[in-house]
Amino acid sequence: TVIVIDFGAQYAQLIARRVREARVFSEIMPHTATAAEIAARHPKAVILSGGPQSVYADGAPQVDAALFEAGIPVFGICYGFQAMAAALGGDVARTGLSEFGRTETTVMTAGTLLRDVPASFRTWMSHGDSVQAPPVGFTALACTAGAPVAAYEDLDRQLAGVQWHPEVMHSEHGQKILEHFLYDIAGCTSDWTPANIVEDAVTGIRELVGDKRVLCGLSGGIDSAVAAALLHKAIGDQLVCVFVDHGLLREGEAEQVEQDFVAATDVRLVVKNVADVFLRELDGVTDPETKRKIIGREFIRAFEEATRELNADEPIEFLAQGTLYPDVVESGGGEGAANIKSHHNVGGLPDDLQFKLVEPLRTLFKDEVRAVGTELGLPEAMVWRQPFPGPGLAIRIIGAVTEQRLAILRRADAIAREELEVAGLYRDIWQFPVVLLADVRSVGVQGDGRTYGHPVVLRPVTSEDAMTADWGRLPYDLLERISTRITNEVREVNRVVLDVTSKPPGTIEWE
Ligand code: XMP
Repeated sequence: TVIVIDFGAQYAQLIARRVREARVFSEIMPHTATAAEIAARHPKAVILSGGPQSVYADGAPQVDAALFEAGIPVFGICYGFQAMAAALGGDVARTGLSEFGRTETTVMTAGTLLRDVPASFRTWMSHGDSVQAPPVGFTALACTAGAPVAAYEDLDRQLAGVQWHPEVMHSEHGQKILEHFLYDIAGCTSDWTPANIVEDAVTGIRELVGDKRVLCGLSGGIDSAVAAALLHKAIGDQLVCVFVDHGLLREGEAEQVEQDFVAATDVRLVVKNVADVFLRELDGVTDPETKRKIIGREFIRAFEEATRELNADEPIEFLAQGTLYPDVVESGGGEGAANIKSHHNVGGLPDDLQFKLVEPLRTLFKDEVRAVGTELGLPEAMVWRQPFPGPGLAIRIIGAVTEQRLAILRRADAIAREELEVAGLYRDIWQFPVVLLADVRSVGVQGDGRTYGHPVVLRPVTSEDAMTADWGRLPYDLLERISTRITNEVREVNRVVLDVTSKPPGTIEWE
């Protein structure tokens, strides 16, 4: 493993992902970790991340100097670069010259770190202090207008660093430089492949679960599908999957779970079809929060019922969760954080369902989950599915939910999705809700006749994490095709409008 020490900037996760893109396993530890704690993990290398502070500021996070004596290769980035220099007796000072954003960087001596990098290239910087002279034993490799030493290495001690952020997209040759450190200076091997991830996960699951039974709720989304597929590979028929079909899914999604997923994995799947219960409970309800509460409640009820029936055969001890690594890091991370997100992923299951948790994805980033899904042979449409909210189409019908309205929205949604895919833009758009304004009517004309139909709203958004989003700039000709097809093929809809609101102030969903 490569340990990324988080100095409190937002870059640690990005660095960890870049390391994994080099097919080397990485984990994040807080900067409060001591050299002994780090060494206890037997890392192949340590990377010190950037951070918001000056190394000389009061209370600035420090590197435990013993780390550099431990014989572990270390790479410093930005703050980590300066902290390493300061800890080893180099000269770090305020020059009065800050550099933020794109910075021209000049190679003085390529050394090993900057091999095959052009003499001058663009990097992305964010620093006030700079290293004036590297510590004894180090070679200065590059400089910028504001940083006399912008990169250095000491091959004997396997130490190196850069002032810029090689992990961000705007820095040229960032991945190459990182790989020079990992492979050529630290001697890491690239063995973190989807096949090995699967193998590790399978071993881990078997150790944890033994011969006990595991319950896994499927939502149709990628995380629960990959978790289930991994579990099935590890423990076969000890796994039972439950899929609550609430009738609020999009066209083809229930079939994807019930047929394609089962065909690809051969898991034992219990389908709880409760669409009529959901429709009955939602009858006449228009308030968004009330809708969500009803859906949450009925979901739990259906899940509990399935669990009771299954438990009657033989008790189930474990519940599977699709928790990902970013959740683990954000909730204080590390090994001790087992139960933090307990029940969120299965729609807020109540505490009196007594399960131990098994979380086979808790070391993985989203892109790795997709790679593992592909490795396990899951259907492409499932692996690349855009996020979809638990309450489903119910929160995309503005007004009361009825079977007929669901059918209208399902058709319009399928057309929008299909055209987005044909245009080759499916993976560029984070999510593409189609919203039915069920209580709004407007006048239109079709053929010779006057119509009085409903509008649908197209809500394409781009985003990194759904916390913030921008409206997706879809090409006009694509929008035209979607609009023409929806108004031609879905009789009840006579108007298609585009939502051009970012988040904030809008949310992604309309309810
Ligand atoms: P908003 O609408 O708040 O949505 O911008 C942010 C992200 O969360 C999804 N979403 C949900 N996901 N259960 C879920 O599993 C929910 O109740 C729920 N509500 C919103 C939404 O699709 C977007 O990705």
